[in-house]
Amino acid sequence: MAAKHWRAGLLALLLLAGDKAMTEPRTPLVIAHRGASGYLPEHTLAAKALAHGMGADFIEQDVVLTRDGVPIVLHDIYLDATTDVASRFPARARNDGRFYAIDFDLSEIRQLQALERLEPDGSPVFPGRFPPGPTGLAVPTLAEEIALISGLNASRSREAGLYIELKAPRFHRREGQDIAVRILEVLAASGYAERSDAVFLQCFDDATLRYLREDLKTPLPLIQLIADNSWGEDSEVDYAHLQTDQGLAEIARYADGIGPWLMQIYQGPGPDGEPRFTDLVARAHARQLAVHPYTFRRDQLPPGIASFERLLELFIEELGVDGLFTDFPDLAREHIDRIDKTR
Ligand code: G3P
Ligand code: CA
Repeated sequence: MAAKHWRAGLLALLLLAGDKAMTEPRTPLVIAHRGASGYLPEHTLAAKALAHGMGADFIEQDVVLTRDGVPIVLHDIYLDATTDVASRFPARARNDGRFYAIDFDLSEIRQLQALERLEPDGSPVFPGRFPPGPTGLAVPTLAEEIALISGLNASRSREAGLYIELKAPRFHRREGQDIAVRILEVLAASGYAERSDAVFLQCFDDATLRYLREDLKTPLPLIQLIADNSWGEDSEVDYAHLQTDQGLAEIARYADGIGPWLMQIYQGPGPDGEPRFTDLVARAHARQLAVHPYTFRRDQLPPGIASFERLLELFIEELGVDGLFTDFPDLAREHIDRIDKTR
């Protein structure tokens, strides 16, 4: 294990280790979703630095490739919802009107400004967060972000791990690129290659996770993300099946955990007003799979949940999830540290 990664790596290993770890109270991981994205434009280095300062255990990177094959940290395969690409390169949209990251070299990506996420009509997706308009912030490469986090791990003597999502691997393959290989290359060059290093790899595509484990032989912890079939996230994956006992048993052969949508666990209030849950967490734990649901947002609470604090209480104290993706890592950190003192 690289010494600089020991704390978060140890945390991850404890959560992935054996029957005992799955049945006893655990301290869940705070995973900063796209950084501290409740406060700063997502996937900017500023948002990642803030997440580090707020005490996140892991910091998420969604990754896509540029035309010249460089992994960059960006949620969409498109640039238009979170950058000023439309004004910088107005002639570069495809016929569908979208600006694809894979049509741009890194030298061009570097000319863009990262913005708070906007709807197609130009309104903010999350009103009340960082204001729309110029930011002076950039779209980072994966290597640059790892350098930032490693630097903060050293200067703050507090370790945060990486939590990397391979975005749209089938799309990348159709474009002639292998996103899994490119990401592993960057990780290896940055000293992340052993199972005990503080990094998770996550993907919505089960075939890509199998490829990582069985063909590319990565020992790194893998998380199977679970979407809803209606979203069209990956038309070749049956996410309803993945939530069945058989599906979970299949996942357990190549992955270490699942990343379900929180509404696949929480079913809203019952007639008596009390929250109702599926048994997905218990069934995953029975197969030694860690459970890291997404996405916990103070400004987007599920139906029937009165406060963010109540949402955290349900998933952490009542359901016993092993980690959670949140746009507000400070609030999750405070909640977990408070309940830890009483355990
Ligand atoms: O990767 C976990 C969570 O981030 C999945 O949703 O769409 O925000 O990448 P998304
Ligand atoms: Ca993600």
